[in-house]
Amino acid sequence: MLFTEIDHVAIAVFDLEAAIAYYRDTFGCEVEHREVVEKDGVEEALLKVADSYVQLLTPSRDDSPVAKYMAKHGEGIHHIGYRVADCGVALEAVKANGHRVIDETPRPGSRGTTVAFLHPKTAFGTLIELVQE
Ligand code: CO
Repeated sequence: MLFTEIDHVAIAVFDLEAAIAYYRDTFGCEVEHREVVEKDGVEEALLKVADSYVQLLTPSRDDSPVAKYMAKHGEGIHHIGYRVADCGVALEAVKANGHRVIDETPRPGSRGTTVAFLHPKTAFGTLIELVQE
């Protein structure tokens, strides 16, 4: 098994502060990490839930892929991040099985992780992110 944990469930929201307040006031979730990932055009807030995270994300600019996604689909679950021991090994396994990927090689993600996105077309409609800590 290449997955070691669900790393995060990413939820796209229009108003990051309002979403943070919703999770804090309703469920007592605190923000553990915030980051603007300029390259991806997103601002994210990570809320720790046991050993996983809820990742609230919002576009940091109008032309980012998340902004385009939200213009079409609105708010809601955007992708699932699965934790893996070795992102490169997991990515090669996906390719070796003939499935499409978005990132051909692992790249830096937020909070110092190494990540790779897989194409939803060959993953039953889910955008999957492989996350190596
Ligand atoms: Co993610």
